[in-house]
Amino acid sequence: MKKGKLIVLEGLDGAGTTTQANLLSEFFKKMSVNHVVTAEPTKGKIGKLIKTILRNSEFKGTVLDDILILLFTADRIEHTKNFLEPSLDESKIVISDRYYLSTYAYQGFKKTDEIVQLISVKFPVPAITFFIDVKVKTLLKRLAVREKREIFEYENMMKKIKLNYEEAISKLIFRGEEIIKIDGEKEPIEIRDEIIYNLKKLKIISC
Ligand SMILES: Nc1ncnc2c1ncn2[C@@H]1O[C@H](COP(=O)(O)OP(=O)(O)OP(=O)(O)O)[C@@H](O)[C@H]1O
Ligand SMILES: [Mg+2]
Repeated sequence: MKKGKLIVLEGLDGAGTTTQANLLSEFFKKMSVNHVVTAEPTKGKIGKLIKTILRNSEFKGTVLDDILILLFTADRIEHTKNFLEPSLDESKIVISDRYYLSTYAYQGFKKTDEIVQLISVKFPVPAITFFIDVKVKTLLKRLAVREKREIFEYENMMKKIKLNYEEAISKLIFRGEEIIKIDGEKEPIEIRDEIIYNLKKLKIISC
């Protein structure tokens, strides 16, 4: 029996998932909550390969979706076996910066519905997923200062990914998952506090 809880942070690029993972971790440290922070794609070999592909415009194309789904799934299998399951077994709170909801959103939920359904069932279901919701216009401003941009970080692509997120979230909620949308236009601390409020309300943390 796994006693830990998986908390997932999701959002479009630049929405602030890494910022929130760090803020949440600082809070947990202060409160002595036994937790670990992780992310997908992971820092493992497959995760690194994914990041290389995402940063290389040469790979922009239609076949990419299917290849990426398989790579992300391989990375997630490794992540689950090597990190998520052992941490949950040790009763830890696990904060994951992205998880399978990102695959639904970024690799086109509709087109690959069946594949994604097949690959998602094997993975631990999060206790809660927070979708940090930020307007595409705001995200483009935040990302404009970045040197290396990923193939997803362009306006039309982002709008499509946002719609995919909305659709995937509805479907996952219908399947019984706990997913909460948070207004990501607010100040980072306000967002963090809203996340903590929900974690307490749902008894995921008790501090
Ligand atoms: N609530 C916020 N308001 C304004 N700026 C923010 C907010 N949260 C994060 N930022 C800033 O936006 C940028 C992107 O934040 P962050 O790296 O946390 O996003 P991310 O969702 O992890 O992005 P990616 O998906 O590309 O890893 C950073 O410069 C960060 O300081
Ligand atoms: Mg990040």
